[in-house]
Amino acid sequence: MRSRIRGTGSAVPDKVLTNFDIEKIVDTSDEWIITRTGIKERRVAVEGEYTSTFATAAAEKALHMAGIGPEEIDLIVVATVTPDFPFPATACLVQNNLKAVNAAAFDIAAACSGFLYALSVVDKFVKSGAVKKALVIGSEVLTRIVDWTDRNSCVLFGDGAGAVVIEAEAGEHGILSTHIHSDGSYWELLHQPACGNRNPASQKTLDDRLMFLRMQGNEVFKLAVRAMEDAAHEALAANNMKTTDINFFIPHQANRRIIDAIGKRLGLLDEQLVVNLESYGNTSSASIPIALDEINRNSNIKQGDILLFDSFGGGLTWASTLVRW
Ligand code: ACO
Repeated sequence: MRSRIRGTGSAVPDKVLTNFDIEKIVDTSDEWIITRTGIKERRVAVEGEYTSTFATAAAEKALHMAGIGPEEIDLIVVATVTPDFPFPATACLVQNNLKAVNAAAFDIAAACSGFLYALSVVDKFVKSGAVKKALVIGSEVLTRIVDWTDRNSCVLFGDGAGAVVIEAEAGEHGILSTHIHSDGSYWELLHQPACGNRNPASQKTLDDRLMFLRMQGNEVFKLAVRAMEDAAHEALAANNMKTTDINFFIPHQANRRIIDAIGKRLGLLDEQLVVNLESYGNTSSASIPIALDEINRNSNIKQGDILLFDSFGGGLTWASTLVRW
């Protein structure tokens, strides 16, 4: 059995925050942000909008495209590092919103690699025969854990969700391989110090701003390029394919310079690279499924096309998924 992607969906907040808007918040400029990252604007959740809000909306669109009812879904996995609550899982909130009454539901935290980790886990359930239909969702509201006084990080992130409906199917179409990797020795490069039990809620936590994301951007940058290049080669080697076999290379959308460096190292042409970060910034686990949904809805993908998803993120984690559409 293979995991076939039957439907895709995405949902982002209506509120747009441009680089010019951020110029009014921290000492930065539109020119600096575009040159260093490629990002022009990002979407920002407003009061009453949560990670589960966007996850549910993206899932509804994916189900609609697949022509599958919520009660047919056996499993819902939400990849997120910005859940509505530490518990219950955001996936349970999504299950309730959708009335997917027959689904088991849980979250996966692998930062920006979360969606590919979730695909990998769901693919194993499908291959074992335990699951026939599943929802895999990446959803984040990162702008609520970003320190809006830290220009090094606040310019990078945005909110939103992407989802796919997976159905078990015999044959040559669907997920061909998944690879996931971690190196916890780099955990401090990208982390949220508080909101877990190492730094419990206290006045000191608030005063030291420990509930906000911290990042050593330069170090992450170098490791990201190497890890994503390795992940792409690993996926291609496992399937006896070459970079010229790829129709769509969908990388995690963190920084245009990271994507260009990987494209160059892999020898990819511009038309193979899928890039939409200028409109959304880095939406962590949501970035790959949002980009996938956009190209799918623009009907650019033909049956039989080869798609390579490639990601890295906090942990550190990195991952790839190769798909025959
Ligand atoms: N506006 C203006 N100046 C800035 C800004 C800003 N927003 N941010 C940093 N600078 C300044 C710095 O202070 C520094 O000034 P200095 O030379 O006087 O000290 C200068 O710009 C250069 O800073 P660098 O950090 O060296 O800039 P760099 O070219 O590395 O770009 C960036 C920084 C964009 C963060 C880059 O390193 C990057 O994208 N790294 C990867 C980060 C990433 O992808 N993180 C997400 C990981 S995914 C996940 O799991 C969430």
